[in-house]
Amino acid sequence: MRLAARRRRKSRLLTMSPPCLPKKILSWFKFLILLSMALLFLCYVHSIPSSPWWENSLLRQHYQKLINQSYQGKLPPPFRVDPNNLAKADELPETTSSTYSTLTARTLYHQAYAPNYQFIMDVGDVCKTKTPFLVLMVPVAPGNKEARHAIRLTWGKENSVQGETILTLFMLGLAGGAEQQQKVLQENKLHHDLIQSNFVDSYLNLTIKTMVIMEWLATRCPTAAYAMKVDSDMFLNIDNLVLMLQKPGIPKTNYLTGRIMWDIPVIRVKSSKWYVPEEMYPNPKYPTYTLGMGYVFSNDLPPKIVAISKTIRPFNIEDAYIGMCMKQLGLAPKPPPDASQFQAYNTEYNRCQYSRIITYILQSPQELINYWMDLRKKPGPPC
Ligand SMILES: *[C@@H]1O[C@H](CO)[C@@H](O)[C@H](O)[C@H]1NC(C)=O
Ligand SMILES: *[C@@H]1O[C@H](CO)[C@@H](O)[C@H](O)[C@H]1NC(C)=O
Repeated sequence: MRLAARRRRKSRLLTMSPPCLPKKILSWFKFLILLSMALLFLCYVHSIPSSPWWENSLLRQHYQKLINQSYQGKLPPPFRVDPNNLAKADELPETTSSTYSTLTARTLYHQAYAPNYQFIMDVGDVCKTKTPFLVLMVPVAPGNKEARHAIRLTWGKENSVQGETILTLFMLGLAGGAEQQQKVLQENKLHHDLIQSNFVDSYLNLTIKTMVIMEWLATRCPTAAYAMKVDSDMFLNIDNLVLMLQKPGIPKTNYLTGRIMWDIPVIRVKSSKWYVPEEMYPNPKYPTYTLGMGYVFSNDLPPKIVAISKTIRPFNIEDAYIGMCMKQLGLAPKPPPDASQFQAYNTEYNRCQYSRIITYILQSPQELINYWMDLRKKPGPPC
């Protein structure tokens, strides 16, 4: 019946007035051409998953999002001259490569020596009552409650994994105003998982945030075995992470691992968000570092990194700055047992893949909740 109707429609199509027919055929052709182009693109992307331009443009998007979250639309002047910072910078010992030491350079950077800042909100003696195997430290903008909410519903909820105690905490800078600060205080009353330090929370200050995380671990939680700095837009397969750290060969000290970045050139294009002036960082390339989305380290490192940071000029690329600290300590990041577990991007959700990896960068907090529920709650094996 239906088939007959369709045949009738088809024959009507064929007998339509001439201008209609070529148009239809043309749009079909367009569609076919687009489809084959899309297929070719997908084949290409799959054949070289670490294709630099592809990764780079996605990383760009990721950092653009972070910038947007931090600034919430209004950009402060990128390198404000702060007379206090200038004074503190003058107290810093000179580094050997001394192109750094022009007066302009001293006025150009923010200060990343963590003990210069104070914690204005803390989580009490959380590490005195328990000894975590792993502390997950999440840098997040004060206003980004949505990301915190998604993490609390997913990987941040897991406080015992493979028999190990896990602790998840959020690190915030100063709130944007009294009203936002009130909200943050309320949130902490409910969840007891926010730490706040008194530096201006902005994208260019992410290095300060990371160093304040290190300071917190060094002074408030020295008994933990491992820690991870993990961004707020990450999917974290916490089981796989703990299993990795429980492997017999994993070092207990001087260990930093994640997605290893080597030979990365410093961006000197002034309009770029990752622009670093030569006065701040003169070398054309960064030392080997672990990508900021999520890196794992033995908890003996934070006090060493904080101490050495006093002698290293800060620059606004937090993960590369940690790489610089490691280099100055005479240490280097080590590849994880399975490098394919530290993924940055994928094209679509795949349950089997998500059951095998440790990290993926996501597009939204809702994605985290959806993928987590699918992976954890759906019956049947993922692969
Ligand atoms: C960031 O903000 C700009 C301007 O508000 C917007 O055009 C852009 O799409 C945003 N990017 C992301 C990744 O959210
Ligand atoms: C970074 O933080 C310091 C200390 O709070 C502040 O003086 C400076 O203006 C901040 N820089 C940016 C770019 O937000």
